[in-house]
Amino acid sequence: MVPVTPRPSRAVCPGSYDPVTAGHLDVVERAAALHDEVVVALLHNPAKAGTFTVDERLGFVERAVAALGLSDRVRVEAFAGRLLVDVCRDVGATVVVKGLRGSTDFEYELPMAFMNRHLTGIETVFVPGDPALGHVSSSLVKEVARYGGDVTDLVPDDVRDALVARLRAGG
Ligand code: PNS
Repeated sequence: MVPVTPRPSRAVCPGSYDPVTAGHLDVVERAAALHDEVVVALLHNPAKAGTFTVDERLGFVERAVAALGLSDRVRVEAFAGRLLVDVCRDVGATVVVKGLRGSTDFEYELPMAFMNRHLTGIETVFVPGDPALGHVSSSLVKEVARYGGDVTDLVPDDVRDALVARLRAGG
């Protein structure tokens, strides 16, 4: 009998990551605990300018993943104007992992999970977010930084410094 080598389980953690937060990193870490490999898929609309460029966002996530010691199993890739299901097929992922901070996230995420399953059969697995980070989102962090609030511990230090430089300058 030919020995069968099991395929590594590969998950995708999708998002716009503009910028990455401690909440995103908690989900990536937990996805990496559940799967052999994780692709952090930075999905962006080329027609829409974000606060940070795609290269800046990629750099923030890559450095954070390295700081977690996960670079050997977690890779970060950007995709422009693509359906998540197509990205999953291209990278060979069989599951999407998303974090839920509460019922509002669930209501937002559930139709997308249904739609993605309808399109290709891909499953979405929800992990409950760390309650200590339930208030953390890219948009709130940006608002707090814009008006001079301290976002230390809510984002990696290089993101905090970049937020201060970018948003205080009126970006
Ligand atoms: O960080 P965000 O903005 O909450 O991420 C949302 C994202 C990028 C994961 C979602 O908008 C997405 O999957 N976009 C890709 C396009 C797509 O597949 N749309 C149909 C989803 S049912």
